[in-house]
Amino acid sequence: MHRRRYCACVLCAVAAAVAYFLLFTGMPVASAADGPVSFIRDVAPVFQENCLACHDGKKKAGKYDMTTFERLTAGGANGEPLVPGKPEESELHGLMVSTEQRRMPPRDKGEAVPKDKATVVARWIKEGAKLDAGIDPKADLVKERRVRWQPPAPPEQYRFPAVVNALAFTPGGKHLVVGGHHELTVWDAATGKLAKRIRTRAERAYGMFFLPDGKLVVAGGRPGQEGDVRAYDLTARGKTENGVELLDGVTDPKVLVKHLLDVEDSVLCVAASADGKLLAAGGCDRAVRVWDLSGGLDQAKLDQTVENHADWVLGVALSADGKFLVTAGRDKTAKVWDLKARESVVTFPEHQAIVYAVAVKPDGSTGFSVGADKQLRTWKPGGEGKQVKNAGGHADDVFKVVANPKKPLLATSSADKSVRLWDSESLAAGKALAGLTDYAYAVAFSPDGELVAGGGYDGNVVVWKVADGAVVKAFNASPGYVSKAEPKK
Ligand code: HEC
Repeated sequence: MHRRRYCACVLCAVAAAVAYFLLFTGMPVASAADGPVSFIRDVAPVFQENCLACHDGKKKAGKYDMTTFERLTAGGANGEPLVPGKPEESELHGLMVSTEQRRMPPRDKGEAVPKDKATVVARWIKEGAKLDAGIDPKADLVKERRVRWQPPAPPEQYRFPAVVNALAFTPGGKHLVVGGHHELTVWDAATGKLAKRIRTRAERAYGMFFLPDGKLVVAGGRPGQEGDVRAYDLTARGKTENGVELLDGVTDPKVLVKHLLDVEDSVLCVAASADGKLLAAGGCDRAVRVWDLSGGLDQAKLDQTVENHADWVLGVALSADGKFLVTAGRDKTAKVWDLKARESVVTFPEHQAIVYAVAVKPDGSTGFSVGADKQLRTWKPGGEGKQVKNAGGHADDVFKVVANPKKPLLATSSADKSVRLWDSESLAAGKALAGLTDYAYAVAFSPDGELVAGGGYDGNVVVWKVADGAVVKAFNASPGYVSKAEPKK
């Protein structure tokens, strides 16, 4: 059940990505009809999708490893599977289209390769079974494809709402940055008017954080494909169309100012210490990278890679003094890592369910965590990680907890479609802030602590006043999206 919830957030993004891809960019362009077949562009993906599950570097079924061009052409126990120019004599193709019992993938293990895909492989063999110029035959093909992958342009007008997994107020507090589909969108927090769109390589932003120097660090990725951590300068100039400024965060070095990390799966969370000297990000590879930014973003140095969780890292926080890293895991624990001693010092197990997010009091004396048990819990990061208090109130999984920068207040967001405010000492619950209409994945305070914003699955974002819970503005953060629920004019 809890997996299903998180699934809506991360795993189903795969399905959404496919839907977006087909709807916004049209069908994938099969080159087979026009011009020669490219191995890396057309053939490698067929093998990746249909064969690599068994013919990767670990399983090597039939002693056959298809991870590099060199190995793929060398073959397995039976020797070379390719006769360039002759698809009908090449086992590699023959086994895919075989009508006999022996087929690849084996009949009891999977569907046959779609006919059009097998035809592409046949054409490639007919054309000589060559590797594209410039690619090392020893290069890992999955990695090679990832590096070559080009992000699509974000949809001009969204036909489906963008899931809001992350948002942040700009340093001046006037605007909200929201994660979109292959972009970040910037909205006037008071009017809900779209101000800027910043193209990104990442399909989704899962976490974002403004450094004290005003640069925005974003953790994100493409589910199951790649993940990254990049820093953007949103004050860079772009071209303006219809009153909206368009920035290129994929190739323009004035916008994409720092590229900190590339990994094989999504990066789900990012945080910095209050002084901006340390940055931490974690995700699906279970690792948390910690960078030393004391020499500025330009001189960022990877300080350590912490592998302290048995499953995805869903949340990170750093104590203000930079001594402790606090993390939340899908392995149902929150943990504390001593960055100087480089060792795990506390495991907080009380949630006994997925822990989605953590926060830490500026002085490091209290850790806060939320999870699939619907609870907000406080505990001591020092000592033995003893629980201090817990508080219920949310009716469903709690996805985020953030601390107000100016007041002793916390905000949480939940699958119960609400954002709640809490006294961070007593955990006395303040108002449940209403107005969101789906799972609330993201919540953030403004830098002056006066406003709080939440967003979620259906793209809706609401900005409230912290003082009285009044709605300042509600809008859908998907450019050009017209809600199906709205009457047609
Ligand atoms: C579910 C696992 C599985 C998948 C998926 C799979 N294979 Fe295999 N493959 C095997 C096993 C097991 C063998 C060894 C038994 C055999 O040769 O029949 C094998 C053997 C082979 C061989 C013979 C290697 C040799 O030299 O003996 C070739 C060629 C091959 N596979 C190609 C492919 C291709 C191409 C695909 C994708 C279209 C594919 N396989 C997908 C399990 C798989």
